[in-house]
Amino acid sequence: MYFIWKDSMTIDNGIIDDDHRHLIEIMDGIMILVTSKAPQGAVLAMLKALLDFGEKHFQREEMLQKAAGFPENESHRRIHDQLLNDLRAYIADLSNVSCQDLTPEQCHKRIHETKRFLTRWLIAHILGEDTKMRPYVERMQPVATAMPLLRAS
Ligand SMILES: [Fe+2]
Repeated sequence: MYFIWKDSMTIDNGIIDDDHRHLIEIMDGIMILVTSKAPQGAVLAMLKALLDFGEKHFQREEMLQKAAGFPENESHRRIHDQLLNDLRAYIADLSNVSCQDLTPEQCHKRIHETKRFLTRWLIAHILGEDTKMRPYVERMQPVATAMPLLRAS
């Protein structure tokens, strides 16, 4: 396990946590592919899945914040936009050379950099920003309960 959801990441004991769990599973899958020297096409597909689910998740997190009157709604939205842009840029710059065809040092460096990027992309965001939503979770509930689990769709 490279990435695992932890209790310290709890936000709402509900759909936000469920989304985060799923995003973290995808990120773990990316690390498994990179470390097992899978073809870059597979890594790319998994990164795109992360972008796709991330877009949907951020969108509904923003809706919940609005519904709850979360005061940092606007700045949080801008952070989400930046994270999505960072991931799009990361995907666009992704080399088509697999770890398989790199030297052991280059491959090791790539593994390290991938882990660092993904940690900053979501784990740091959950712990540093999303935790600020905790006092608003109750006010999110009426809207949140009407939202389906994303991973099931
Ligand atoms: Fe967020």
